[in-house]
Amino acid sequence: MEKILHRGFRYETVPANYVFPPEARQKKLENNKSIPVIDMAADGCDLEEIAKQIFEAGKEFGIFQVVNHGVPHELMMGMMSVMKEFFELPAEERAALCSDDLYKPVRVFTSTGVHDVVGFWRDCLRMAIYPVEEFKQYWPEKPTNLKDIVERYANELKGLKDRVLELTAKGLGLELDYFHGDKSGEPLVSHVNFYPPCPDPSVTLGLAKHCDPGLLTFLLQGEVSGLQIFHNEDWVAVDPIPNAIVINYGHQMEIISNGLLKGVEHRAITNEKQSRLSIANFIQPAKESLIAPAPALVCEENPAIYKPFLFRDYFAKYVTNLGDKEKSEKAFL
Ligand code: SIN
Ligand code: FE2
Repeated sequence: MEKILHRGFRYETVPANYVFPPEARQKKLENNKSIPVIDMAADGCDLEEIAKQIFEAGKEFGIFQVVNHGVPHELMMGMMSVMKEFFELPAEERAALCSDDLYKPVRVFTSTGVHDVVGFWRDCLRMAIYPVEEFKQYWPEKPTNLKDIVERYANELKGLKDRVLELTAKGLGLELDYFHGDKSGEPLVSHVNFYPPCPDPSVTLGLAKHCDPGLLTFLLQGEVSGLQIFHNEDWVAVDPIPNAIVINYGHQMEIISNGLLKGVEHRAITNEKQSRLSIANFIQPAKESLIAPAPALVCEENPAIYKPFLFRDYFAKYVTNLGDKEKSEKAFL
């Protein structure tokens, strides 16, 4: 239990097992690139145009922010504040949920730098949130309004997930339902990341460079900056925009689109003054799903970059290689 960092627990200096080697640390950003913001708005919007913008952003960056996405602002704020409260509860309240068992539907974990891996400066509440009826029983009982808020959010996100997958398919010239079914069939899982203030952000990371394994990720990041993407050998900040949801493509989207869309590599930096909370929701294929480049995107001039594989087999490589993109895909090229 004392493994769990929590608000109020302040190290005076960074313990050695959280110190990253110099080449992995953050440096001052030397660019002013910015990530596209896409307006998914409202009545009469031109789906063709939105699909095109999503395609262009996915091709160049593998990440974009959406506004006018339909998820109520008050619900997004509710999620952020109830999760902040969760991490402000006395540590004993979280202790019962602590587990290293990867298959638990709800668990709290931290990393301490075991097995020669440097520890990330964060705690994480991982919870399966959709289908609601299947998982609600496991969600934390405190704060008492958490279950209601998560239920509403999960239902909203399910709708947004279908829309974004359809727009992505449209942008690629695939049938609208191409990503429905088992390609996005894994239960919807959230990572609520809590990054406590850190005495020396120059040597630590909240999350090291990785590419998400699945199709896409929805991210709420509140008002505190910390997310950075690796774009053409540069780190680029994804700064918070009020009411926006960040959407990033994962490795399977790059594979299924035969390299047309980018699975973006990213990380979270730490902050000396403020804690930061982010809520990531992963859309992933079912473990038995057969993954391969979409046949419509493969031709003689554009041969398939990847061999077909079961998502289960990819995922095993992903875990062994700690989210490293090149190493995880090597066996499937
Ligand atoms: C993530 O990669 O899951 C979260 C990144 C962030 O905290 O912004
Ligand atoms: Fe991620």
